[in-house]
Amino acid sequence: MDELKEALLSSEARPTEQAAQLIKSSNYCIALTGAGISVESGIPTFRGYQGLWQKYDPLEYAHIKSFIKNPEKIWKVMYELDEIMQKARPNPAHFALSELEGKGYIKAIITQNVDNLHQAAGSRSVIEFHGNAKRLICLDCGKIYQREEIDRSVLVPRCKCNGLLKPDVVFFGESIPEEALNSANQEVNACDLMLTIGTSAEVVPANILPWEAKRSGAKIIEVNLERTNLTDEITDIFLKGSASQILTILLKEIG
Ligand code: OAD
Repeated sequence: MDELKEALLSSEARPTEQAAQLIKSSNYCIALTGAGISVESGIPTFRGYQGLWQKYDPLEYAHIKSFIKNPEKIWKVMYELDEIMQKARPNPAHFALSELEGKGYIKAIITQNVDNLHQAAGSRSVIEFHGNAKRLICLDCGKIYQREEIDRSVLVPRCKCNGLLKPDVVFFGESIPEEALNSANQEVNACDLMLTIGTSAEVVPANILPWEAKRSGAKIIEVNLERTNLTDEITDIFLKGSASQILTILLKEIG
């Protein structure tokens, strides 16, 4: 057991108090967020019993090859999901992270979410690891459109060049945008503390980031309703609970 874990176990402070102390004493704290942080904004997760992948087979609905083969079928689902995302508003967890950035405690957020809720909550340093659903990209010429520019009555939106438009999010079979990957790696190398919030840490390469951070000496605070494959391996402080509940407490403890 490393020194920090031993000290934490023998400490009488509550885990949120310990986590707040760690955040306050860190030099460079970043957050890695996943679908769990947006649940309380009304957006379902991917895995788990009410997750999207229970309803839609990811290989059938979220693979780039399926999209190209049958864009109409996939766009139908994309429109449905986009309706949910457009109605969603940031919850206290998003606002807490934004406030922590304002106070200088959080230097960057790497998010796997495509819902734009960190940005809507006022966070400025956000790395969109899996893209952003408010944009669309032409698969032929690469032109970017905002979702408002698209006529939603059209079954399959097309670019002015007639290329197929796809939500600007990373489908299975596609690479992480290079700029996002590079920025994420830079942040991971720079951090001495990483908060992982609401992610199952099951999808590569995002799930490698906490391991990389740990390898380069950072501490890991994990916020989740349940334990993940990080918890017993690299997590220093596990805060069990909903993201908004825990982040609200942390914000208060930090003061
Ligand atoms: P998952 O659906 O895999 O995991 C969501 C995590 O959030 C689980 O560990 C839940 O226990 C936790 N959770 C649920 N509600 C929560 C709450 N209120 N507060 C805190 N935690 C909560 O989502 P991700 O890890 O984000 O990729 O999934 C990663 C990627 O898999 C997604 O970005 C997506 C998907 O395939 C792409 O679409 C490319």
